Amino acid sequence: MAGVISVAKSITPQFVKRIISKRLGPSPSNLTPWNDEGLAADAAVFSRSQRAAENIDGMLSTFSMAAMDSLLSLQKAKGAVVEFGTYKGRSAAILANRVAPDEKFILVDIADYLDLQAIRAINPGVDFVQCASREFRRKYPDFRSIRKKSRLVHVDTSHSYRDTYSEMRLCDELLSPEGIAVFDDFTNLNYSQIIPAIYKYIYTNRTDLCVFMVTDEKCYLCRKSHLNIYLSFVLQGIIRSMAVRGINDAMIARSGWHREYRAIYLRTKSDGETGDRYGEEIYGNFYAGP
Ligand SMILES: C[S@@+](CC[C@H](N)C(=O)[O-])C[C@H]1O[C@@H](n2cnc3c(N)ncnc32)[C@H](O)[C@@H]1O
Repeated sequence: MAGVISVAKSITPQFVKRIISKRLGPSPSNLTPWNDEGLAADAAVFSRSQRAAENIDGMLSTFSMAAMDSLLSLQKAKGAVVEFGTYKGRSAAILANRVAPDEKFILVDIADYLDLQAIRAINPGVDFVQCASREFRRKYPDFRSIRKKSRLVHVDTSHSYRDTYSEMRLCDELLSPEGIAVFDDFTNLNYSQIIPAIYKYIYTNRTDLCVFMVTDEKCYLCRKSHLNIYLSFVLQGIIRSMAVRGINDAMIARSGWHREYRAIYLRTKSDGETGDRYGEEIYGNFYAGP
């Protein structure tokens, strides 16, 4: 009994954090650590992107623009950025400003709605491929060059069960170790098939993809080796990052903790809510650092 008590006493939050960090792997080197220094520059880039995006008809909300831009600004600009489902290019305008000249920037849509000129004005290196996401492997001649090299893949296509499942496979093939996949309309129950399609892929395949953040619009996935660093950013940096992009009422939330599911919900405050963390007692001790 005495032994049990002394083991229990030795389980401090720091110990738990160390164990969790070990399980999640070493600190990755391909991500820029977040700090307040870059925030003013980030705000300037974002305001340019936002202005361009708002001039293009489309579906992306300001909240999602800010969330996606926050994550893109965290990554080193190295590799490729890909979007499936561009419509006229509203979300593409947000991506365009973050893609470096030596990176590949590929926009894919089954139909030709895209205002390519508007996107080229932001990023002349853009490629448009007209095909269904399922045909992309075959239709894009440089597919091999972006395999395992894509740092962000945004998926906003038909939202059918079959397409979503096959787009998960595509993301798994395309994403680099630090890559992020973003699936639109994850919590829109008019498209409730998106949730089972994503989780069927995760639970029935040998994949290291996992969800690290959800919002009222999108689901954000990364590889397990980078889960710790992205969660650390969501827990420590994203509220400030959203605020410099004009979202001053962002809040993170979680109501239970289990090592098999660690995603954090990023949302706006409800009426009367104060502070910027809901359920902090549940996750406050975990993930204190990258
Ligand atoms: C909701 S819109 C995209 C909105 C856009 N991301 C924005 O921010 O405005 C969906 C787009 O997906 C395209 N689409 C539908 N099914 C597709 C598929 N299987 N593969 C590629 N594109 C598809 C449609 O043509 C349409 O332009």
